[in-house]
Amino acid sequence: MSRVALVTGGSRGIGAAISNALKDAGYSVAATYAGNDEAASKFTAETGIKTYKWNVADYDESKNGIAQVESDLGPIDVVVANAGITRDAPFHKMTPEQWQQVIDTNLTGVFNTVHPVWPGMRERKFGRVIVISSINGQKGQFAQVNYAATKAGDLGIVKSLAQEGARAGITANAICPGYIATEMVMAVPEKVRESIIGQIPAGRLGEPEEIARCVAFLASDDAGFINGSTISANGAQFFV
Ligand code: CAA
Repeated sequence: MSRVALVTGGSRGIGAAISNALKDAGYSVAATYAGNDEAASKFTAETGIKTYKWNVADYDESKNGIAQVESDLGPIDVVVANAGITRDAPFHKMTPEQWQQVIDTNLTGVFNTVHPVWPGMRERKFGRVIVISSINGQKGQFAQVNYAATKAGDLGIVKSLAQEGARAGITANAICPGYIATEMVMAVPEKVRESIIGQIPAGRLGEPEEIARCVAFLASDDAGFINGSTISANGAQFFV
């Protein structure tokens, strides 16, 4: 029987590339989405990957959604916490709502996604937790106090989970993508985006598939001794 993978925010952007890469690697994949029904239906029609709608910021929705995935596909072996949002604003203009929305989705959303699958992984003595962080969690970013806080928080989550899961055959790792050609980056004002590309020694944005290949590797048996690590994939824009 093939292993089961859950990818949050898995029908668009980097998440869609991850869902596809895991499907190509032989996993039964479930992809979640928050609101865009049209994009999710199109994604399922094109790829055959099942999509599920829930808000990762809500614990009960996540728990119930995960129970449904497990009843449809079987126990989840690989969980990819990818869903994330931006609410960019310089700090002096950032509202408490902008702060809280990003914390709820990007950080609490990781807890809500991993916590319900963790006991099953411990029982079965196998699991792969992969969290999609960001270069901006490593270096900070103008207008992203909220987002950078969550993405730095992701690194604390995987380093702690790695220690808790290691004896149970569970690994937890993070990937820090640099600037990738997705709707999120395309939403940055063009002038700002051009200046960002100027700071990337590779001279280009990354492709979603370049992140998806990192996920497929971390999910594989070959990566069993990699635990608590961070893979940076950023075209040499920033070194830790
Ligand atoms: N560094 C230093 N100064 C900057 C700056 C930067 N990176 N970006 C903007 N500024 C300056 C501007 O030049 C301007 O200065 P002046 O007031 O002297 O003219 C000031 O900061 C901005 O003031 P505004 O009142 O114009 O700002 P705003 O309220 O309109 O906000 C913004 C604009 C939200 C900052 C917008 O420029 C923006 O979205 N920037 C991009 C932020 C960014 O990089 N986000 C990453 C998104 S992609 C992602 O998150 C994925 C990932 O993981 C990598």
